[in-house]
Parts: sequence; structure tokens; C-alpha cells
Amino acid sequence: MDKHGYIRVMALYCLFFMALIATNHAAVVNVKTKGAKGDGATDDGPAITSAWKEACAGAPPSQLVIPPGTYMALVVDFIGPCKGPIEIVARGATIKAPPELAKFTRDTWIKFMSVDKLTLSGGTFDGQGQATWKATKCQDSQSSCNIPVNLRLNKITNSVIRDVTSLNSKNFHIAVLASDNNRFENIVIDAPGNSVNTDGMHIAKLNGLNVTNARIKTGDDCISFGDGSKNVHVQQSTCGPGHGFGVGSLGKYPNEEAVQGIFFRNCTLTGTTNGVRIKSWPASYPGAATDIHFEDIIMNGVQNPILVDQEYCPNNQCKKGVPSKVKLTNVSFRKIRGTSATKVAVKIACSPGVPCENVEVADINLTFNGGATSECSNAKPKVVGQNVPKIC
Ligand SMILES: *[C@@H]1O[C@H](CO)[C@@H](O)[C@H](O)[C@H]1NC(C)=O
Ligand SMILES: *[C@@H]1O[C@H](CO)[C@@H](O)[C@H](O)[C@H]1NC(C)=O
Ligand SMILES: *[C@@H]1O[C@H](CO)[C@@H](O)[C@H](O)[C@H]1NC(C)=O
Ligand SMILES: *[C@@H]1O[C@H](CO)[C@@H](O)[C@H](O)[C@H]1NC(C)=O
Repeated sequence: MDKHGYIRVMALYCLFFMALIATNHAAVVNVKTKGAKGDGATDDGPAITSAWKEACAGAPPSQLVIPPGTYMALVVDFIGPCKGPIEIVARGATIKAPPELAKFTRDTWIKFMSVDKLTLSGGTFDGQGQATWKATKCQDSQSSCNIPVNLRLNKITNSVIRDVTSLNSKNFHIAVLASDNNRFENIVIDAPGNSVNTDGMHIAKLNGLNVTNARIKTGDDCISFGDGSKNVHVQQSTCGPGHGFGVGSLGKYPNEEAVQGIFFRNCTLTGTTNGVRIKSWPASYPGAATDIHFEDIIMNGVQNPILVDQEYCPNNQCKKGVPSKVKLTNVSFRKIRGTSATKVAVKIACSPGVPCENVEVADINLTFNGGATSECSNAKPKVVGQNVPKIC
């Protein structure tokens, strides 16, 4: 082979290996290469979304990198399906929403949809909702009422969301729907106790979710499960300020799916308006919730530590006195201790239409200055162990 022939062969080899690397190497896309400024003022939403599209379409396991810094984004879409597993690495990155509600034309700020095997690692998502909570609902939005949820997950499966912080959401912080078999680990949720409608996590219509080590301070329910929630475990998590942990409200809409298999374990509530509760609307549509268990829970100055409320009717927007048709079966409250901020530490108010079945109360120790009491209606709880107060 002459010198030129040799160079040609080597060049071909090089091209071949470069092609091999290009096709086999996992896609890593940095949002900065797609034009994200990270100056905290420019709308980086389009750049982040376009970097996601490239990573999602690239060779798996792919990565979207949001480097440390402060980004402003009006909306961001993380929509699949992707080629395979994908990770969003956002450690040290803060993404801020514009504070003005009028800029939003949809009810979601950051949208995750139709992704399998997603990992979201780190990131602070700041909804800047302070002005929205003060405004009369929808006053500055003519067409419709688009109050964005910070993070909305829809059809996300086999995924892990970890070390993520949600701040000052305008509406719910995190809403999870139709998303099976996921884990949330080390989530921080933070908004003031007087912020409006800022539920920490609202979850519905899914099978398999574990929430471990969530630290939640907010102005509404810390974690609540709506219809169709199945096989979920919440553990080592805290709530306060907030409206507590629980299931409901159920029965508002026709054809709600049953709630089944909800386990809260090793959680602590501090200064909340409710501790652990199950609520359903009176005059409701039929529904069912079974296998709801609360165990090893600490209450610090909680207003209604243990509450089953089947006449849940905030602002009198329903027909009180007409029984709920949501049937509660196999419910337990075990090893719940600490202090109540009101006299009635345990209230189990079931529906006169469909009384609760198989409710167990065990090893409760809830104290109140002046003596705590318990109340039960339409339920005959099985009482186990020593309980303070004495269970009705
Ligand atoms: C959640 O935890 C339970 C009990 O530890 C376990 O059986 C289940 O597989 C876990 N689910 C997920 C989605 O990790
Ligand atoms: C839950 O708390 C109980 C009592 O404090 C403790 O014995 C148990 O190890 C804890 N479980 C987990 C999984 O941390
Ligand atoms: C309640 O639990 C019992 C015993 O574990 C079980 O046999 C029954 O099917 C459960 N009821 C419902 C409605 O899930
Ligand atoms: C309940 O808790 C109080 C305060 O911690 C404690 O003094 C009391 O012994 C406990 N009672 C039971 C039955 O565990």
C-alpha cells in the first residue's frame, strides 16, 4: 500500500470509529448549548424545552443537564416518550416562574408527561406565588382561571424524583396523576402557612408510589390522595405548617375510582390544622376507600390529630345532613402520640348512610392541656392497647 492508500485507510477507520461513538454514546445535552442564559431574567423555557427534546430523542441513557445558576422560565415541557431512560440533572439550579399570573395561559408551570424511567435529580422550582395568593381568584385572567401548578406529572412511570425543592407555588406544588410505580425521595416543599391552595402533593389515579423523607411546609394539605390512588407509602416525612396528611376529599364527582392501600408511617406533624385525616363530601356520589393505615406518627400541637370527616363541607358549598356515599373499610390508626391543640384529639365521624367498617385504633397517646377527648359516630372502632384519650 502506498502512503496515500495508507492515509485513506486510516481516515476511513477514524470515520468509522467516530460514527460508532456518535451512535453508541449516551446523549448528554446541556441547556446552555441550546441558548439558556441562566441570568434569572431571560425566558429560558424554550431553550430548556428544546434541550430536553434533543436529550429525549438521543441515545439512552440520556441526560439533560441544567447547570447551577438561576433561570427564569415561563413554561417548561418535559414530554416523552423518550428513546430510553433519561435523567434531568439540576443540582444547584434554581428555576423561577414569572410572578405575574396574567402571563400564564395554562394551569401548569413545569409539565412532565409520558416518560418512562425518568430521574429528576435536584433543582429548586420557585413559583413566586406571593402576589397570586393575595389576588382574588382569577381577577386578572379574563379568559379562564389558569393558576399554574408548580410541577405536574402525568403518565410518568418507573421513575425517581429526588432532592427536588418546590417553593412558593401559585397553586398546588406537585400534582401526580396516572403515573405508576414511582418514588419521591428527599423532597422539600416550602410556602408560608397562610399561602392559598398550595397543597404540597396531590396524588390521584395511580398504582405504586413511595414518598420518603419529604419535608413539607405549606398553606394547604401537605400530602393528599384523591380517587384511584393505590398502593402508596409515605414514610419519614414531616408536615407543618399545613393542613395535614390524608385521603380526600372523596365523593365530589361521579364514577370516582376506589382508593386502596395507603400507608403513612413514621411521620411527624407540627402545628398543623389537621394531623391524619380521611374526608369525603356529604350528599356525595358513591365511592370507596379501603386499607388506609396510619402508624408511628408524632403530633406536635396539632389541631385535629386524628380525623375521619365524612361531612367535609368547607364554606358550606354542599348539602350538609345528606349522608356521604363513600364507604370506608379497613382503616387503622396505630401508635400515634404527642400533643393536640384542641380538646377533641380523636374524631371519627363516619357516614350515617354507609357506616365505616373495620376501623382499628391502637396505642394512641395524645395529650391536651385540660384533657383530650374522642368522638365517634357511625363507627364502632376496634380498640387495641392503652389509649389516651379513652376511645369512644
Ligand atoms: C414502596 O415500598 C413498599 C414497601 O416498602 C414496597 O413494597 C414497594 O415495592 C415500593 N414501591 C415503589 C414504587 O418503590
Ligand atoms: C419507624 O418508627 C419506629 C418507632 O419510632 C421505629 O421503631 C422504626 O424503626 C421506624 N421505621 C423506619 C422504617 O424508619
Ligand atoms: C378488609 O380486610 C379483610 C381482612 O384483611 C379482608 O378480608 C377484606 O377483603 C377487606 N375488605 C375490603 C373491602 O377490602
Ligand atoms: C402519654 O404521654 C405522656 C406524655 O409524654 C406520658 O407522660 C404518659 O406516660 C403516656 N401514657 C401512655 C399510656 O403511654
